Amino acid sequence: MKNTNDIKGIIFDLDGVLLSTDHFHYLAWKSLADKLEIPFDETVNEKLRGVSRMASFEIILSNKPELKLTEAEKEAYAAEKNELYRTYLQTMTPADVSDDVRATLKALRERGYLLAVGSSSKNAGFILERTEMREYFDAVSDGNNITNSKPDPEVFLKAAEYIGLAPEVCAVVEDAEAGLEGAVAGKMLPVAIGSAHGSPLAQISLDTFADLAVHFAG
Ligand code: G6P
Ligand code: MG
Repeated sequence: MKNTNDIKGIIFDLDGVLLSTDHFHYLAWKSLADKLEIPFDETVNEKLRGVSRMASFEIILSNKPELKLTEAEKEAYAAEKNELYRTYLQTMTPADVSDDVRATLKALRERGYLLAVGSSSKNAGFILERTEMREYFDAVSDGNNITNSKPDPEVFLKAAEYIGLAPEVCAVVEDAEAGLEGAVAGKMLPVAIGSAHGSPLAQISLDTFADLAVHFAG
């Protein structure tokens, strides 16, 4: 257990925490799965939360073991999925981020916390730009600057390094078990929201994003 008073930085997962891209991921993977005749539904999609693109594809492929693809074919199909996913991302606007999220991030900054994004996504920069969210963060660590995806703590350790703080004084806000595992492995304070609410790995579970301002008083 950590004392929330010791926390100086807060690292946020992107998808499922600051905004929601779940349905876009679902539609894009579904289109590929249908083409390859692999069974895929919302339950399988849930398992992809916080998991990197290639690891997500492996999970999908595990539902059709007789389908053998080369690494090059896997890369090509994943790129195809990403292209379709990005056409959905093009439709995002600042209205896709709630006023609650914006007001809470602003309040936390005013209290002196350093804020960072810690996301497995290689599209994080594009999503932050589309939704006009970049200005709230002191640093962004994402799928482009890591070699090991969540549950490895690398993406969060890099985020802490970018904001110049020791991992021990950082909290991580996550909607995925894989992300909470990474936060624990990185010795950060694990905070759960959304799908991860109530996880035994979390020290704090948030009912709403705005509750962050209750727990982190500056
Ligand atoms: C986030 C999402 C995952 C997604 C991953 C990689 O962590 O929760 O579902 O697979 O990012 O996203 P990308 O945009 O790089 O394909
Ligand atoms: Mg997430």
